[in-house]
Amino acid sequence: MIYVFDFGSQYSQLIARRIRALGCEARLVSHQYPLQKLTDAKGIILSGGPDSVYEKEAASVSKKIFDLGVPVLGICYGMQLTCHVLGGKVQRSAKHEYGPAKLEIVRKSALFEKVPKSSAVWMSHGDQVATLPKGFVQTGASSNTPNAAMEQTAKDIYGIQFHPEVEHTEYGSQILKNFVLNICKCKPANKLAEFIEQKVAEIQKTVGKEHVICATSGGVDSSVVAALVGKAIGNQLTCIFVNSGTLRKEEDKDALKLLQDLGLNVQYVNAEKQFLRALKGVTYGEAKRKIIGKEFIAVFEKSAKQIRPTPAFLAQGTIHSDVVESAKTATGKKTQTIKSHHNVGGLPKKLNLKLLEPLRDLFKDEVREVGQKLGLPEHAVWRQPFPGPGLAVRVVGEVTKQKLDIAREADAIVTEEIEAAGLARSFYQYFAILLNDKTVGVTGDQRKYAYPVVIKAVVSSDIMTSDWARLPYDLLARISTRITSEVPQIARVLYDITPKPPGTTEWE
Ligand code: XMP
Repeated sequence: MIYVFDFGSQYSQLIARRIRALGCEARLVSHQYPLQKLTDAKGIILSGGPDSVYEKEAASVSKKIFDLGVPVLGICYGMQLTCHVLGGKVQRSAKHEYGPAKLEIVRKSALFEKVPKSSAVWMSHGDQVATLPKGFVQTGASSNTPNAAMEQTAKDIYGIQFHPEVEHTEYGSQILKNFVLNICKCKPANKLAEFIEQKVAEIQKTVGKEHVICATSGGVDSSVVAALVGKAIGNQLTCIFVNSGTLRKEEDKDALKLLQDLGLNVQYVNAEKQFLRALKGVTYGEAKRKIIGKEFIAVFEKSAKQIRPTPAFLAQGTIHSDVVESAKTATGKKTQTIKSHHNVGGLPKKLNLKLLEPLRDLFKDEVREVGQKLGLPEHAVWRQPFPGPGLAVRVVGEVTKQKLDIAREADAIVTEEIEAAGLARSFYQYFAILLNDKTVGVTGDQRKYAYPVVIKAVVSSDIMTSDWARLPYDLLARISTRITSEVPQIARVLYDITPKPPGTTEWE
């Protein structure tokens, strides 16, 4: 087991996820986790975090963590803390370094096995190591950070100022692999079948003879959770599918068919009018999110009350990225709310139901693997993630039925063309966003005043970070031609070339 001590970075869980992707066990724990419990530790990672080691309340660890005879890797704040605790000096950098940097390896290191001498890394820090602790050597440098990497091989203690867990660090996976497999000597194993077995047993034990309801959207997460809970308790599960009117083209039919094909009980609720009424006149994205969340709870609550036998549990397809965006970190400090995800929390409190969230620790690609193993059809497992508020956050400005219909048509064309080009699996998400301000165009000899639409397609493995997809020009041309000719209310097609960060995936 690799223990990841969490000092509050947005990326902490991602470290654990990357290690699990190597087939090894990883557990994210609070930085205050008792050291005597680390009996099965093969390695320890100290995560990044927002603190400064000299702050009074700064999150810290006992010096004893370096004497357990277990390799330790400090990442970003974790490196600064290693330095501070072991008697080195950390100081404020002249400027906050955020974004890409070049790492130069200055000394051979087991951590940098198979990493070229110079490679791209991702930095995000205000402090840096000024003087190394006694017994440490510098192994890497970048232009703004002379001590970008350090180590003390006698005790297997390593520190890196950059983030190997984010995709922007070119050889990040290799560095983590070197640490976990070579330095910590973890043995990879296939954990998937075990995960399903363990969750099925847990669900059966927790639920007993009670009834469970599940809010299902047809998306990957809720379908996988429904299939998993269905596998555990069969008919004791009822799925509730709410059509909020902000779904993609044909989405309600597809979703219903999928759930029925899985042999699950489904209750369909068409609440389109109610949602549109609540959204009338609302233009701000975060407000739309809140309203949809509230309406969803109201509709769901009403439907849930009609289910017999009375349910005692609510199964939710919460996955890790949802948790990171909305929850407290293990340090107890709140990460900044980027967006209110309407599908997390809320429901159980209102309904007085106990919560089942068996996918809570998994990232999207892991959820897909579980789905595949549970026998979900390929198109369901590979369905793109779709936000709970649906097209309401992809229609900029006020949401109306007419604008939703336009967005649906444009979105369907994007999907059809990317699928026809055989590229559906190459991207994490691809969709259309309808803008609010009309622009001038011309069709035939007629001036037209119509909406612009933005195409977004991103590559990512977990959507914590992403880059824009390099769609072939002729594909973009086909999408543009089809949209402007088949959707008369659209005059202009744009392509979003913003990575995340700084641009989030959804526009609102
Ligand atoms: P952002 O826009 O924050 O999105 O980069 C990250 C991922 O989350 C999806 N998303 C949501 N999913 N409820 C959801 O279930 C929501 O309210 C929500 N908002 C964004 C988004 O599509 C992307 O995959």
